[in-house]
Amino acid sequence: MCSCAGRSPGRCRPASQFLPFGEAEPDVAHPTALCQAARVPLKARTMTDERLAAAPVPKDWIMAIAPYVPGKAKADDGRAVVKLSSNENPFGTPDVARAAYRAAADALEIYPDAAAIALRDALAGHYGLDPARLIYGTGSDEVLHLAAGTFAGPGDEIIFPRFSFSVYPIATCRVGATPVVAPDKDYATDVDAILAAVTERTRMVFIANPNNPTGTYSSRAEIARLHAGLPPHVLLVLDQAYSEYLDPEDDDGGLDLARTAPNVLVTRTFSKIFGLASARVGWGYASAEIIDAMHRIRAPFSFGIGSERAAVAALGAADFIAHSRDHNKEWRARFEAEIATLGNKGLRVVPSKANFSLVLFEGAVSAETAYKGLMEAGYIVRWLPGQALPHGLRITIGTAEQMTGLIAALRRIVGA
Ligand SMILES: Cc1ncc(COP(=O)(O)O)c(C=O)c1O
Repeated sequence: MCSCAGRSPGRCRPASQFLPFGEAEPDVAHPTALCQAARVPLKARTMTDERLAAAPVPKDWIMAIAPYVPGKAKADDGRAVVKLSSNENPFGTPDVARAAYRAAADALEIYPDAAAIALRDALAGHYGLDPARLIYGTGSDEVLHLAAGTFAGPGDEIIFPRFSFSVYPIATCRVGATPVVAPDKDYATDVDAILAAVTERTRMVFIANPNNPTGTYSSRAEIARLHAGLPPHVLLVLDQAYSEYLDPEDDDGGLDLARTAPNVLVTRTFSKIFGLASARVGWGYASAEIIDAMHRIRAPFSFGIGSERAAVAALGAADFIAHSRDHNKEWRARFEAEIATLGNKGLRVVPSKANFSLVLFEGAVSAETAYKGLMEAGYIVRWLPGQALPHGLRITIGTAEQMTGLIAALRRIVGA
């Protein structure tokens, strides 16, 4: 079936080529297939084509994007299940943040502060940053998009690792740039592979540390080596969505680099350990010049006043954060040990430093079978065929009760 419903005569492609990212497996051996496959050479376009179209015609590179597929919140049959598919905080939201959000209901008729001064001051105080060098957005997703929109366009290349956050190809293709996928090293980020992929067209490198969906981590030395190997005109975007789950000694030095280097942007979020995924507050830190450029394309108002106040309050919820980190560390280790005992069933866990683990199914029971079995048992996790991981399940570390139940269900499914 044609994807353009007759709106783009002579240029349409089969709808199957635009399958959502979560359903189609991108051709990672030929990374430009991620969004260039649907492009038509400029010469093939004519004004007549545009005029003949019965409705506005989206840009080819936009229609070539496989849409982001969020983690499911319900079983396929509509049953409520334990959601371990989106790396949210299983302990909810800090009470102080919830109270701050509620209190803001009195100010709904007022636009939020476009300069987000309260948030910037709070972040600057908490992390020792210059408030003038902060950018913020509706989730760190928006900050990632702003970076691509500011520094890359058609003809430019953006590099990211083979198994990494699925927003990177979307942010790249959205601005008409070319995605370049660097091979992994046993599922982890391979600094040498990224450096080898750099060309004179490279404008940005996206990496997440810890990485999603693998949970793998690059040390401070590796991050420094990556930065040192990049030409100065290439922006290194260090996505630290999960960094608060790290032990202090595992700090990868990203913020220190962003404080001093002219080509490093660190992004962070309130969606994970701070328990505010629905508030949609993310931020970034870089040189004054980078931040100034990015602000020019930012929507004037992003998250609402309730979200901003909740984020400021959550920053101070030290006990909640420490408890979340400690619990995650303990149960991630227990979970990894459990999976190790299922090695004879073909299961293997990728060592994680995040609030989730990637479990690989390399034996008789497939990841798809386990995914369906877990859903049947009341647990929804993330199966990743659209990210070239049809043999992988990404499982968020939940409460003790959730993890105990999930492990028991998994053992039953694999026949242990
Ligand atoms: C690596 C990574 N970066 C960024 C984000 C975006 O988070 P948010 O837009 O909620 O801040 C996520 C969310 O899952 C993520 O896993």
